[in-house]
Amino acid sequence: MAVRCSCTALFPLFFCFMICQLCYGTVTDIQCLKKLKASVDPDNKLEWTFNNNTEGSICGFNGVECWHPNENRVLSLHLGSFGLKGEFPDGLENCSSMTSLDLSSNSLSGPIPADISRRLPFVTNLDLSFNSFSGEIPEALANCSYLNIVNLQHNKLTGTIPVQLAALSRLAQFNVADNQLSGQIPSSLSKFPASDFANQDLCGRPLSNDCTANSSSRTGIIVGSAVGGAVITLIIAAVILFIVLRKMPKKKKLKDVEENKWAKTIKGAKGAKVSLFEKSVSKMNLNDLMKATDDFTKDNIIGTGRSGTMYRATLPDGSFLAIKRLQDTQHSEDQFTSEMSTLGSVRQRNLVPLLGYCIVKNERLLVYKYMPKGSLYDNLHQQNSDKKALEWPLRLKIAIGSARGLAWLHHSCNPRILHRNISSKCILLDDDYEPKISDFGLARLMNPIDTHLSTFVNGEFGDLGYVAPEYTRTLVATPKGDVYSFGVVLLELVTREEPTHVSNAPENFKGSLVDWITYLSNNSILQDAVDKSLIGKDNDAELLQCMKVACSCVLSSPKERPTMFEVYQLLRAVGEKYHFSAADDELTMLPQNANPEDELIVAN
Ligand SMILES: *[C@@H]1O[C@H](CO)[C@@H](O)[C@H](O)[C@H]1NC(C)=O
Ligand SMILES: *[C@@H]1O[C@H](CO)[C@@H](O)[C@H](O)[C@H]1NC(C)=O
Ligand SMILES: *[C@@H]1O[C@H](CO)[C@@H](O)[C@H](O)[C@H]1NC(C)=O
Repeated sequence: MAVRCSCTALFPLFFCFMICQLCYGTVTDIQCLKKLKASVDPDNKLEWTFNNNTEGSICGFNGVECWHPNENRVLSLHLGSFGLKGEFPDGLENCSSMTSLDLSSNSLSGPIPADISRRLPFVTNLDLSFNSFSGEIPEALANCSYLNIVNLQHNKLTGTIPVQLAALSRLAQFNVADNQLSGQIPSSLSKFPASDFANQDLCGRPLSNDCTANSSSRTGIIVGSAVGGAVITLIIAAVILFIVLRKMPKKKKLKDVEENKWAKTIKGAKGAKVSLFEKSVSKMNLNDLMKATDDFTKDNIIGTGRSGTMYRATLPDGSFLAIKRLQDTQHSEDQFTSEMSTLGSVRQRNLVPLLGYCIVKNERLLVYKYMPKGSLYDNLHQQNSDKKALEWPLRLKIAIGSARGLAWLHHSCNPRILHRNISSKCILLDDDYEPKISDFGLARLMNPIDTHLSTFVNGEFGDLGYVAPEYTRTLVATPKGDVYSFGVVLLELVTREEPTHVSNAPENFKGSLVDWITYLSNNSILQDAVDKSLIGKDNDAELLQCMKVACSCVLSSPKERPTMFEVYQLLRAVGEKYHFSAADDELTMLPQNANPEDELIVAN
């Protein structure tokens, strides 16, 4: 079904243009196989018959492997030794999710198409060996950027090997032996064994025969080394990022899971009082907390994050509280107390209320309201028999509510608060699945001295997969950084993929969820990312609109991202028909600073 696109004034024109191509298509893979058969299988060696239109009917065909057995979507074609004849088959562009094509040992001839990257955008494994393909290896092969394996052995290919193939950063096997290729082997390919290049007129490493220097080969070297230089720069950047990210504090987390020794050391101070912000909570001291958590045993741990470990506490009347043991904070008791009284006064429907705190020796314990349905992360990614996938209206409600909470922190709360660590783990759900953001205001407590600038000390960037790309460069937290992280949460809601690991991507895809979405949207197949359990339930327009909002949040340029206030308004419009929002949900915006990009959010 096609989805009509309406572009709002809030989206830049180019973005609308991009989105308008992202309409849900019908599965075209049947047409792909029909065209392929018509072009190369005159003798019906494949024995494919198209008289059954049920979903999954093509998945049982000879040589066809689908993504899912009951969905007509081709993952790979293994058509080796089927006696296929003719030119490179037609129709493959309609198998738009295919990752592997094996046409080896047939009688195919003619050129490898110059637009191969348009026909096979996702291909990771291309095997055309033992045919009679002729002509040159097309430069566009370099645009099939997912290629791992290229086998062109034993054909009639001529010309030189294109230097552009240096762009294939994932290439692990490359075989062009037994053709009629000539000229210099591009330096990017010299790492492969000499036997892969056995051609009469090829020269240069890894072969032992030197090329006589001529102008065309020199160009090859220059282009090759320029690309090589770029690759090295990228590698260095990646190594630096890796080192910085590794510095993130982890020590205590591991220990916590194993033991609760620390709790024994504070037992002596049982009488320490818990300072409470709400009169509704009955008076407590440390002893009550210890009893309620069974001395903070690991069985009571309900979450571990960057700011500390969360425990479930069961009170004598059977009700629950959540106690957070803060990861080491270097703030003095006075500073800590003053932060607490600020955070304790923050009350909004979509924030987890801080009820109180307790200071014992070096330990800082925060008392929160308990959220019975757990974190959004667990609800999305930790499915088991008694936890079904959340339905779409519920997910939309969670998206709108958490956007409202975060927008309120950014725009309506005084002092304004940057979260700095938004993830699906810090969005908690109450009994009615109303989302509540937790951990706001804590990032600041983690840093030794956080003066007027919201800097990230200790490599304190936030959870992997949620960190805005500019943070590694600027090291300054901004509202737009929170918007980016929130965009990742929206993507999780629509795709049910984890931010760092995409299960639905080709096996060798190593990027993050945002990389994956960017790739799909550049190729106009964003709909492939949608959680399968949401498809075909009349929600497609809403899913797509949410995806649009998410994509605008994760744009790499912070200035192009909407503000949290805009995100909230957009999502609210998407979910209007459900009436999730009450009349008093209208946010009042406090006046902005002159330059909101470097807004200094938490006042001192
Ligand atoms: C059509 O294909 C489906 C799935 O492969 C199969 O279960 C069904 O029996 C087939 N129907 C006919 C009429 O062949
Ligand atoms: C198959 O691909 C061609 C070329 O991209 C396109 O014009 C055609 O609409 C596709 N067929 C279907 C059924 O989508
Ligand atoms: C390959 O990709 C580049 C960059 O997107 C583009 O400029 C070029 O035209 C493409 N080449 C072919 C042959 O498709």
